[in-house]
Amino acid sequence: MHISLLALLALVPSLIYAANLDDWRSRSIYQVVTDRFATESSGGKPPCDTGARKYCGGTWKALSERLDYIQRMGFDAVWISPVISNVEGETAHGEAYHGYWPNDFYALNSHFGSVEDLKNLSRALHDRGMYLMVDIVVNHMGPNTTTTSFSSQDSFSGYKTFPQESSYHPFHFVSPASYDPTTSNQTDVEQGWLGDSVAPLPDLNTENTEVVRTLNDWVKGLVSNYSIDGLRVDTAKHIRQDFWPDFKSAAGVFTIGEVLHGDVDYVANYTRVLDSVLDYPTYFTVYSAFTAGPGQGNISAIESTVTASQKAYQHGASSVGSFLENQDQPRLLSKTKDLSLILNAMAWPFIHDGIPIIYYGQEQGLSGGEDPDNREALWPTEYSTESPMLRHITSLNLARKLAISAKMNFLTNPMTFVPQSEHNSTTLAVSKPPLMALLTNAGSAATVTWTVPKKTFDNKERIVDVLTCRETVARKGSGDTLVFTSTMGMPLVLVSSAVLDTQKSDDRRLCPEISNAIDTNGSVQISGSPFLYLALSMLIILAQI
Ligand SMILES: *[C@@H]1O[C@H](CO)[C@@H](O)[C@H](O)[C@H]1NC(C)=O
Ligand SMILES: *[C@@H]1O[C@H](CO)[C@@H](O)[C@H](O)[C@H]1NC(C)=O
Ligand SMILES: *[C@@H]1O[C@H](CO)[C@@H](O)[C@H](O)[C@H]1NC(C)=O
Ligand SMILES: *[C@@H]1O[C@H](CO)[C@@H](O)[C@H](O)[C@H]1NC(C)=O
Ligand SMILES: *[C@@H]1O[C@H](CO)[C@@H](O)[C@H](O)[C@H]1NC(C)=O
Ligand SMILES: *[C@@H]1O[C@H](CO)[C@@H](O)[C@H](O)[C@H]1NC(C)=O
Ligand SMILES: *[C@@H]1O[C@H](CO)[C@@H](O)[C@H](O)[C@H]1NC(C)=O
Ligand SMILES: *[C@@H]1O[C@H](CO)[C@@H](O)[C@H](O)[C@H]1NC(C)=O
Repeated sequence: MHISLLALLALVPSLIYAANLDDWRSRSIYQVVTDRFATESSGGKPPCDTGARKYCGGTWKALSERLDYIQRMGFDAVWISPVISNVEGETAHGEAYHGYWPNDFYALNSHFGSVEDLKNLSRALHDRGMYLMVDIVVNHMGPNTTTTSFSSQDSFSGYKTFPQESSYHPFHFVSPASYDPTTSNQTDVEQGWLGDSVAPLPDLNTENTEVVRTLNDWVKGLVSNYSIDGLRVDTAKHIRQDFWPDFKSAAGVFTIGEVLHGDVDYVANYTRVLDSVLDYPTYFTVYSAFTAGPGQGNISAIESTVTASQKAYQHGASSVGSFLENQDQPRLLSKTKDLSLILNAMAWPFIHDGIPIIYYGQEQGLSGGEDPDNREALWPTEYSTESPMLRHITSLNLARKLAISAKMNFLTNPMTFVPQSEHNSTTLAVSKPPLMALLTNAGSAATVTWTVPKKTFDNKERIVDVLTCRETVARKGSGDTLVFTSTMGMPLVLVSSAVLDTQKSDDRRLCPEISNAIDTNGSVQISGSPFLYLALSMLIILAQI
């Protein structure tokens, strides 16, 4: 008996977490475009012309060997590009290096590696206590590389999975008017084809029960074969909502849908059929608040979007993915070179209710614009760990982990907007105990003040800015207020030193020097990370030249 039980256990693949929403809430996700993140040492550092839209050589094995880089920034989950075999060869829009053009659901994309390589990546992540999130596409197939007409069965017969014309909706593109709120046609959004006249994407008929059964069986096998912990679901709004619950339960793990839409109520619908969505409504608002240029963006619009989403989303905003860059959107630095705006924006996903997601390369200051320019190879950066943005992200990840461990229901307590007297249209104060973030889009030339109610912090507490590891001295404002000041338009992410002191000595600690730096009389010795502060100042000065 004993022996056979042990033998059975030995057959269980690497630890399967079958992670659900609650498991994911506390995670911090690093998103990679597999082809662009890392090449194997044998492959060298090939040049990668993003404009050419071709494979550049990144693999799962190379990613497995770079997990230290990701984990040391404080991430504990990695989202990778779709893994299945895509259409091969050149189309009018280049090759399928991004992975979003399926051909064979039951084979892996050999450009990224073998079955063993992907299993090894999964195991390597799990060995570190990290999660694997895999991107999946079930709405459409890749373009047919030899025809754009789709006039007969013949045009579908070469697809490895779904070679029958009956597996597809009739060839007809989603009408642009169907996206327009005044003339919207959701059926058309779901049943029409994506792509364009030079590269149409055959739209799977997810009303067809045979197609549905195939997809549900497939996802179950995929999750189990590779011990996947979560799925990012591409183009979720292009499939009928009632397709998702069965698919989700077949998958058996956390699902986060891409619903590329700015309307909170529209997106909220998908939080009822999937575990989570990428929070696009908040993304649009935050992105434009911080990239429109110094003092230009509408920072107060953030409060209305967030408040609406906290009410409308099924599990509140704490279930959603909070991001500012991804493979479909222009990078922050492509819109503004003002680093104070970038650093303020980057703080957002970590103090928002949702699960932070950072797109690879943001930590190295990559600045590509629209697709395909935003999918740069990372290897030319040499994975430097000295970049100020990387340090910024590391501090923010540590601060969020500290906030979670401080047991103040950080994850599920909705963030609140702190009313500021002497309101200034360039500032935002948000409270997410034990953190408070003071953000501004005034720009790097500004000295900024926030006037917040005194009760926000306990009288006797010392307040530390975790981004610089310096005690922040507030002055008393009129009435019962505290006035915080920041120079060069820098954000402040504040926590009391009492919370900082709860860190265990064996943890990787945030601002380890700080408790020594503040003497018991309450006077401050500047300590912490002077290097970081200097480096940021230098960058800002350079950017202004
Ligand atoms: C996968 O990992 C195992 C154990 O760490 C190792 O022996 C094997 O060579 C790896 N396979 C590949 C293809 O790298
Ligand atoms: C693309 O269309 C051509 C011509 O109709 C056909 O021969 C080929 O099999 C199709 N390819 C795929 C992947 O279906
Ligand atoms: C909506 O789109 C569907 C599918 O394209 C189409 O059959 C239907 O006629 C459209 N409805 C309206 C009101 O235009
Ligand atoms: C999972 O593995 C089984 C057994 O090797 C295989 O039959 C199945 O096709 C695989 N499924 C996927 C989605 O890779
Ligand atoms: C949400 O979905 C329901 C159908 O499930 C639909 O009637 C409603 O219009 C949708 N809401 C929005 C804002 O799209
Ligand atoms: C900013 O956004 C809010 C909420 O959407 C809106 O009410 C306000 O008019 C906007 N302000 C400006 C200056 O556009
Ligand atoms: C808001 O504060 C910034 C920085 O202190 C300042 O440059 C700007 O003029 C202020 N704007 C208003 C409307 O008070
Ligand atoms: C506190 O302040 C007093 C007077 O300024 C000074 O003598 C003492 O050394 C300070 N305590 C510490 C721990 O620095």
